[in-house]
Amino acid sequence: MFVRRIAVVGTGYVGLTTGACLASLGHDVVCADVDAAKVERLRRGEIDILEPGLAELVAEGMAAGRLTFVLGATSAMRHTAEGPEVMFLCVPTPMGVGGVADLSIVEAVVEEVRELLPPGCVVVNKSTVPVGTAERTAELLARDDVAVVSNPEFLREGSAVYDFLNPDRIVVGGSQQDAAERVAALYARLGAPTVLTDAPSAELVKYAANCFLAMKLSYVNAVAELCDRLGADITDVTEGMGYDKRIGQAFLQPGPGWGGSCLPKDTSAMLQLADAADFEFRLIRATIDTNTRQRQRMVEKVRLAVTGKRGGSLSHKRIALFGLTFKAGTDDLRDSPALAVAALLRQAGADLVGYDPALRPDNPHPDLTGVTVVDDPYLAAKDAEAVVVLTEWPEFRSLDWSRLAESVSRPTVIDTRNLLDPAVARRGGFEWIGIGKS
Ligand code: UDX
Repeated sequence: MFVRRIAVVGTGYVGLTTGACLASLGHDVVCADVDAAKVERLRRGEIDILEPGLAELVAEGMAAGRLTFVLGATSAMRHTAEGPEVMFLCVPTPMGVGGVADLSIVEAVVEEVRELLPPGCVVVNKSTVPVGTAERTAELLARDDVAVVSNPEFLREGSAVYDFLNPDRIVVGGSQQDAAERVAALYARLGAPTVLTDAPSAELVKYAANCFLAMKLSYVNAVAELCDRLGADITDVTEGMGYDKRIGQAFLQPGPGWGGSCLPKDTSAMLQLADAADFEFRLIRATIDTNTRQRQRMVEKVRLAVTGKRGGSLSHKRIALFGLTFKAGTDDLRDSPALAVAALLRQAGADLVGYDPALRPDNPHPDLTGVTVVDDPYLAAKDAEAVVVLTEWPEFRSLDWSRLAESVSRPTVIDTRNLLDPAVARRGGFEWIGIGKS
């Protein structure tokens, strides 16, 4: 296997996972970040993101001398005399004005390394970037002896290391076939199917895949609403659907809507991309609207359960929220459906007390405003008119629901994730209300 000298610019969950995993595949990797304090922490092996297995891989890579952390992209270019053979751009591309991805950080890094890149180096866009970014990057570089390829990642938060080392596929796109093949060869040991294509197609794979996942979830949430109205059971319906190999069982779990740092950003970026190409992508519009409606539907379920009537007032009703992160297995609150539901409940005048296994009571996150965060689910439930399960943390299943029933003022649980065993909650004295489970 070829051992490549690789530079990774940006050490967020994509960059750090990419760097540590490529080092674990035997490559020599230097990771760069502009945050000096973070670089110092990384050099001490301190990881500030919740990703199973990542800290161990970083420690292994550093111990083996295959993984190094430096301050700034320029230092990464000068880390070895020959310079990197491949440079990964893993910097943030946040949602900019009008939902268009903001590429200013990508462009700043390209400008910084433009003259430092050794001849023959391949620049790889791994961040989620709009179609046409590889071409734009090549224009900015204005180097005939440096190729640019797109190599999107499909990592899920909470299982990024596993997803990197067990990919469903590798996608590499570029106008120079040999450069694309060299990047694909970095992953050879993983033995995954590889899609070698042009850059615009590779860039679009990322959006198309994420938007399809969001669409699948909005669809199953809409079917769950139909189940509520028709008296059907969403669990059986999705099981019946999922045996069709063309549908599959994955991503058919209804909930309070989808969120996180990727799906919301990528669906709105896809809408922008389509609009810019004079194409009204109604399916994506409907996917986003259905997701917004799903959060409101959760509030109406709580309102009906607590007040006994549609439109009843939730003013000063104490509601316990179980789970605040956008999904289980992460401490990430970005675009969390749980916090979107909390904001709507707060607007309705409810008093909110929240518990999440990944959060400390003093977490300063702005989206937690108006939610009293405690570090004990039993305390959160105290005097509550209802308990609302919003994130699918497995530990909620093994709580003592009889003890909770003694603590709440009304033993009602609205399980927006269909996480709990209804029989266990009922044995504990709770009325259990699920999604699409009339
Ligand atoms: C997603 C994509 O899965 C990943 O491939 C891409 O690289 C980045 O975006 P992530 O943001 O970590 O990953 O979240 P994911 O696990 O996909 O969940 C997204 C949202 O959908 C979460 O809010 C989750 O709770 C929700 N979800 C997921 C459901 O409601 N039901 C499901 O069956 C699966």
